[in-house]
Amino acid sequence: MKRIAVIPGDGIGPEVIAEAVETLKLAQRLYHLDLDFTWFDWGADKYLASGTTLPEGALSMLSADFDAILTGAFGDPRVPDNRHAADILLGMRMGLDLYINLRPVKLLNRKLTPLRERDLSDINFVVFRENTEGMYVFMGGNFKKGTPDEIAIQEEINTRKGVERIITAAFEYAREHGRRRVTMSDKSNVLTYGHDLWQRTFKEAAARYSDIEANHLYVDVLAMWMVLDPGRFDVIVTNNLFGDIVTDLGAGLQGGLGLAASGNINPGKVSLFEPVHGSAPQFAGKNVANPIAAVLTASMMLEYLGLNEPARAIESAVERCVEEGLTTSDIGGALGTKEAGDAIRRQLHAG
Ligand code: NAD
Ligand code: IPM
Ligand code: MN
Repeated sequence: MKRIAVIPGDGIGPEVIAEAVETLKLAQRLYHLDLDFTWFDWGADKYLASGTTLPEGALSMLSADFDAILTGAFGDPRVPDNRHAADILLGMRMGLDLYINLRPVKLLNRKLTPLRERDLSDINFVVFRENTEGMYVFMGGNFKKGTPDEIAIQEEINTRKGVERIITAAFEYAREHGRRRVTMSDKSNVLTYGHDLWQRTFKEAAARYSDIEANHLYVDVLAMWMVLDPGRFDVIVTNNLFGDIVTDLGAGLQGGLGLAASGNINPGKVSLFEPVHGSAPQFAGKNVANPIAAVLTASMMLEYLGLNEPARAIESAVERCVEEGLTTSDIGGALGTKEAGDAIRRQLHAG
């Protein structure tokens, strides 16, 4: 049995996760899967009502009792400092040591991309975003806060171990998935200590994977090439903050955040799957959010659990819906969230 913790979260999270779970339940029936879902109400409402973000003991419970975690998004205008989202989402990424944030950038249909005259093969790469350190460590502080002399310091942490393992994971993935090239992206021309560590570590790893082409781009020029010639990328590996930014750019190439899926992975351990998008509070409760990102995230989760056939079937059902325009309005369709989810399930059922 595969035990799945479901944490819908805030804003559009519950609506898109409902569609993802309904789709998983249909796959469960069609493919005779043994999936068991347990729901958790962690998020802004719970935080505002009780002060609880990530409950005491949650991390050890997730590690001991679950194979995977499926989440929507965290973020609510009533929590301006985003405290609960940091505790829950970053708490799970760091606390479960989910060091790989795997974010595929894959065009499902030519009509979705804002780029002209592109084939599916031109936009088909994966980003390995470091997920446990970098700028996401909350180290720093203020001096003379609130005065004209205020100083604010925010530290970036790069450890040898952390950099090494994400770069190695990117090369391993390239080898296993028949990808030819790994591109490491940093800003080592300016961040001459932290990102020099990335440079040295990358060169050493590249020597160990001589069958894979290794190249480097500063992150600014990476952003340009992602738009002008995305076909040159197979696997991109980068730090936590740059990975956050370039994967929203990648989502843009795919047709928007309504389509982009991701996994937070520690191979062999309980891992967390979530759409790249946030809680889009302005759409919450309106039945307009695109459920595709969440549904493709569920498919990624099945693949992680070794259930490749239903994973691929869900992806292909989504592709057929996009082809037929059975989608929400962000990508040109006329359906609501629920109806777009139903359309995917009809395609899945039809096989
Ligand atoms: P967002 O991703 O929520 O939305 C940005 C824009 O993308 C939306 O205005 C919308 O145009 C589009 N979009 C996103 N998801 C969509 C969907 N499913 N269907 C159709 N269009 C969609 O980013 P934001 O507005 O910057 O942030 C809102 C909140 O979400 C903030 O609190 C932020 O911190 C949080 N956030 C959380 C996560 C997460 O939990 N993983 C990720 C990103 C942002
Ligand atoms: C993401 C989000 C998160 C991040 C926020 C909500 C903390 O933008 O998952 O991409 O910055 O990692
Ligand atoms: Mn982001």
